[in-house]
Amino acid sequence: MRISLQEAAARLQNGEVVAIPTETVYGLAADATNDIALQKIFTTKQRPADHPLIVHIGDISQVAEWATDFPEVAVKLAKTFWPGALTLILPAKNDVSPVVRAGEPTIALRVPNHPLTLELLRISKLSVAAPSANKFTQLSPTTAAHVEEGLGDNIPVLDGGACQVGIESTIVSVTTDGQWQLLRPGMISEADIAKIAGQPQRKTVVEQSMDKANTVALTPKAPGQHALHYSPRTPMLLFKDRATLIETSVQLINTGKTCVALIIGDGIKPSCYISQLANQPREVAAQLYGALHQLDSLKVDSLLVELPPDTPEWAAVLDRLSRAGFSKAN
Ligand code: TXA
Ligand code: MG
Repeated sequence: MRISLQEAAARLQNGEVVAIPTETVYGLAADATNDIALQKIFTTKQRPADHPLIVHIGDISQVAEWATDFPEVAVKLAKTFWPGALTLILPAKNDVSPVVRAGEPTIALRVPNHPLTLELLRISKLSVAAPSANKFTQLSPTTAAHVEEGLGDNIPVLDGGACQVGIESTIVSVTTDGQWQLLRPGMISEADIAKIAGQPQRKTVVEQSMDKANTVALTPKAPGQHALHYSPRTPMLLFKDRATLIETSVQLINTGKTCVALIIGDGIKPSCYISQLANQPREVAAQLYGALHQLDSLKVDSLLVELPPDTPEWAAVLDRLSRAGFSKAN
């Protein structure tokens, strides 16, 4: 159900949830100071209560309402990248609702870069908590239609068109001593962050989980990092090379199964239905969830996906795909 900007503001002020556009993905928003409204986010998404939410604020000056400390490194990052696809995790003020931060001592903050949502924050005079507007573990929505497909027609949606960035924000935590750590890769890369904030003194969450095999690493809580996030309903197989993907498609078709494929860049194609994305990280990110939603809607037996190379510019796309499907040993 599409609603106007004025109606979206009124519903949020009334303690209801509204799906809102951002430049990354659509969010399921509620007044970040209203616990009953916040609970509606968790029930609508069927999301466990121990997964904290990102608070979307209209302006950098509002950080002081949520965080006890705004270290210089975080100020520099905010001034460089906000409004934009960067979420900062900072020490939370005591009066920040434990519901929004799921009992964590920290709070996630971001100024989104979407004109309609910035206007919504301004006219409603609210800050809104908003996780991606999908059921827990499923694909994030990048259009109003995706939100309605995933959460049902009754969900009120402020339609702001297709999201330009297309995958979720980069998450960086900054501690009072000014140290920073990448918690979720995004289209603002770790190198972009390091240019402003200096080299990280802590390992990324991904490096830490690799260390875990040898040591009992002190991995901080990094929600959203568990397996099978961002998943389509169709079983999804991941391939590092096109030849193995094609081989698998032939085997599937020969045994009477149906499949579709998502491939990145030119080259030989499988004989099943494909969605082919240009070989550019920004373009793939912008189109990724749209392509997966479309392939998922075909309701075939398997969705075969070609992975991009394991290089820094592809880190965010690779992260989302790796957690959406199962890797074939190739
Ligand atoms: O681009 C985005 O970030 C989108 C749009 C709507 O802003 N939002 C989004 O929200 O992706 P969500 O809830 O799907 O993912 C946010 C992630 C979750 O994994 C959450 O657990 C983590 O951020 N998070 C939130 N607060 C945190 C905190 N205090 N410490 C560590 N992780 C936190
Ligand atoms: Mg999400």
